[in-house]
Amino acid sequence: MQAYTLLLLALRFTPVGALDKCQSQKFSDFAAALGPILSPGASISFPGSHKFADATSRYSTYGAPGFAVTVDVASEGDVDNTVRKIFFSTKVNVANAHQLPFLATSGHHGATISLGRLRCGININLRALNSVHVLEDGRTAVIGGGTLTLEVTEALWALGKWTVTGICECTSLLGPGLGGGHGWNQGRYGLGLDQIVEANLVLGDGSGVVVSADSHADLFWGLRGAGHNFGIVTSVKYKVYDVPDGNTWVVAKYTYTQDKLEALFGLFDSFIADGAQPVQLRHWATFMRVPEIDPVHAAIASWIIYEGTPEQAAPYTSKMEALEPATTNFNTTTYPGIAVLMGMDRSASACLENGDHVLRFPIDLRGYNLTAHRAAYTIFDEVSGRYPALSGATMLNEGYSVRAVQAVPAESTAYPDRFNNLLLSASFRITPDGDGDDTKGMGIDQIAIEAGLKIRRTLFEGGGLPDLYTYVNYGLGLETLENYYGHEDWRLARLRSLKAKYDPDRKFSFYAPIN
Ligand SMILES: Cc1cc2nc3c(=O)[nH]c(=O)nc-3n(C[C@H](O)[C@H](O)[C@H](O)COP(=O)(O)OP(=O)(O)OC[C@H]3O[C@@H](n4cnc5c(N)ncnc54)[C@H](O)[C@@H]3O)c2cc1C
Ligand SMILES: *[C@@H]1O[C@H](CO)[C@@H](O)[C@H](O)[C@H]1NC(C)=O
Ligand SMILES: *[C@@H]1O[C@H](CO)[C@@H](O)[C@H](O)[C@H]1NC(C)=O
Repeated sequence: MQAYTLLLLALRFTPVGALDKCQSQKFSDFAAALGPILSPGASISFPGSHKFADATSRYSTYGAPGFAVTVDVASEGDVDNTVRKIFFSTKVNVANAHQLPFLATSGHHGATISLGRLRCGININLRALNSVHVLEDGRTAVIGGGTLTLEVTEALWALGKWTVTGICECTSLLGPGLGGGHGWNQGRYGLGLDQIVEANLVLGDGSGVVVSADSHADLFWGLRGAGHNFGIVTSVKYKVYDVPDGNTWVVAKYTYTQDKLEALFGLFDSFIADGAQPVQLRHWATFMRVPEIDPVHAAIASWIIYEGTPEQAAPYTSKMEALEPATTNFNTTTYPGIAVLMGMDRSASACLENGDHVLRFPIDLRGYNLTAHRAAYTIFDEVSGRYPALSGATMLNEGYSVRAVQAVPAESTAYPDRFNNLLLSASFRITPDGDGDDTKGMGIDQIAIEAGLKIRRTLFEGGGLPDLYTYVNYGLGLETLENYYGHEDWRLARLRSLKAKYDPDRKFSFYAPIN
């Protein structure tokens, strides 16, 4: 039997929310011991309270972590104290060792099923660590460990600054950033993790370390790419930049019927030019069912996101128009306005935390193989058309500029595949049956998994590369460590030795864990 089938069976028989099995006395004892040493703004909440629900709701509930208590920290010191208290509670009572597992959360958008191995855990909710302070040099900012993309963008924009964040307003800076951090500005400045100059990290025993090129440099390497594995980042020193004068953006959306697939992705491939894509240009597309455009087959929604005026964008937008889209929405905006136009703002489904399952099947690629892309589309079209529960599926094709990403030496961080130019991911949003037990939903989850893996295999076979790379932050958890962290032997060897050195008790083993 496939490993993932076993995992699914395990998930099936322990539905999320079955927290009655948590030994509640243990957690109230823990709360009673911790409460008095937390700062005044912090709080501890249990299931049934609004605070608990707020702190533990999730973008995807498929393979979600199970929590028995949430500690809403209010200062960096609260994180040290919480982790130290957990560490010594489990050390003193050896029989209880590993029985106070914990997980730090920020934007609640982590969606890998390894999180589901956390049952009866302590949520260390970092959301109150959401400060942004630009330093005197104007080139770095100290940003709290729980700050969301929107909060970073707004705070910096008010000062005429910006940086690299993920594109979704409601993911955190560091959830994405510790594993990569892809976004609009990466072509100019590099990945999110390339902006990290220094991090304050709380290790699994509650001790704090400063991590930078000059302090624990070995860990600095690992933190940038496999950073969910070693500790809790309470704050970072992060590069920020002046927004160029008169900055304006074109966000132009074109929806095509499926017969344009080869023409559209062939055009995108010419834009990619194997890594030479201009920093001003991003192209983005998703397969999706739009009955008004095509009642039978999935359509292709696509965007040109161009930093510049409509005249400057014209060499690209005119080519999109020449393909005769079914609909066109041409807008200009400023940098903070992109999210609304792309459906990545607070009110969009990208920010929903409503109990749906979201299953993604990422693959990183150098370019588009039109034969393989058509074959992947056909699988997508067939499965999303046949099953009403999968009709909300999408398949993202994200094409950011990679110039500054590829200018960073590949071996200098734990991020493994700077040579790829594209992020692709079939993504299935499924609303479970709602009887509190996802048993019926499992049938449709399984169908989505089979289709998602088939789409990925098809794209991989067309990709012409020997090794499969899947962006760790998009992984469903069915991927291998090599898929996430790299196929060169030295990479995993180095990560494993860092894990043994900095997280010997494997406290940080729920999000894409190195083992
Ligand atoms: C709608 C959507 C849009 C996305 N867009 C992008 C994008 O544009 N670019 C991109 O790169 N990725 C993107 N992602 C993927 C994203 O990187 C991951 O989902 C990421 O896990 C989200 O982090 P979070 O803080 O929001 O979630 P959480 O679930 O709160 O955190 C995920 C994990 O990160 C770790 N973590 C979080 N904060 C800290 C911290 N301070 N210290 C140590 N560990 C921490 C924990 O292990 C946690 O389990 C997107 C995902 C979704 C669902
Ligand atoms: C974007 O442009 C279209 C016209 O092309 C317009 O109808 C629409 O309202 C604009 N959207 C926003 C959010 O401004
Ligand atoms: C494109 O994909 C097809 C189907 O997988 C494959 O046969 C072909 O070799 C690929 N082309 C290139 C240039 O890799």
